[in-house]
Amino acid sequence: MKRKILIGNWKMNKTMKETLSFIGETKEVVESLNEEEFVVGIASSFLCLPLIRKLGGKLIGVAQNLHYEESGAFTGEISASMLEEIGVDFSLIGHSERRQNFNETNSTCNLKLKTMEKHNMNAIYCVGETLSEYEEGKGEEVVKTQILEAIEGLSENYVSSLVIAYEPIWAIGTGNNATSEDANNMALHIIETIKEKYGEKVSDKVYVLYGGSVNEDNIKDYVDKENIDGVLVGGASLDPKSFVSLINKLKELE
Ligand code: PGA
Repeated sequence: MKRKILIGNWKMNKTMKETLSFIGETKEVVESLNEEEFVVGIASSFLCLPLIRKLGGKLIGVAQNLHYEESGAFTGEISASMLEEIGVDFSLIGHSERRQNFNETNSTCNLKLKTMEKHNMNAIYCVGETLSEYEEGKGEEVVKTQILEAIEGLSENYVSSLVIAYEPIWAIGTGNNATSEDANNMALHIIETIKEKYGEKVSDKVYVLYGGSVNEDNIKDYVDKENIDGVLVGGASLDPKSFVSLINKLKELE
């Protein structure tokens, strides 16, 4: 049985002080989780990752990005080894805000995933269509390309370890979430895309998350669906009370 995954994406929010108080306020429910059934993490700023690592208990620290080069003249960037050294082995890759604001493309995501493979790091690769692509009925095609271009040249073994987060851009931070049926269909399409290229043994192992205006009222609709293994949550992961509610909803699946 696959574990259920809940990852909060804090984006450029929360100072170290705020992170400490969040950890304190959520500790009890986080520690009550059975790690064989659930994975719960926070994608925080780089600064806060060591705090989560040291004090977060079962809460996993997830980077929001990394550079594909090992080191060098890349002002403002962070490398895989820097993250490894502080014990962080998960990172988001290709979040739509990075694609839109920092020129990330499927091919830079591919380079990043290759670097992560070398470092044995776990990727949460984000895909999703824009509103106009959605309206033109191009969602599946866009997502397929985002996946195939990004996984080119990765080993079967590494592809089978991927977590792929389907986050329609029109649903992020808008309150306009995709229906759980639509998200489930896209999750199936993602699995089929991997299956076509690498076969069922690989596609069976890949985790698929949904993200985009997930909150305590709708989280269960998604995680209950056959092809959805968890959620990536932005806004609703910031308030500790809301994060606790998300975890409690997830635990109802036990
Ligand atoms: P949201 O963000 O939950 O606030 O829509 C999701 C994300 O960007 O990962």
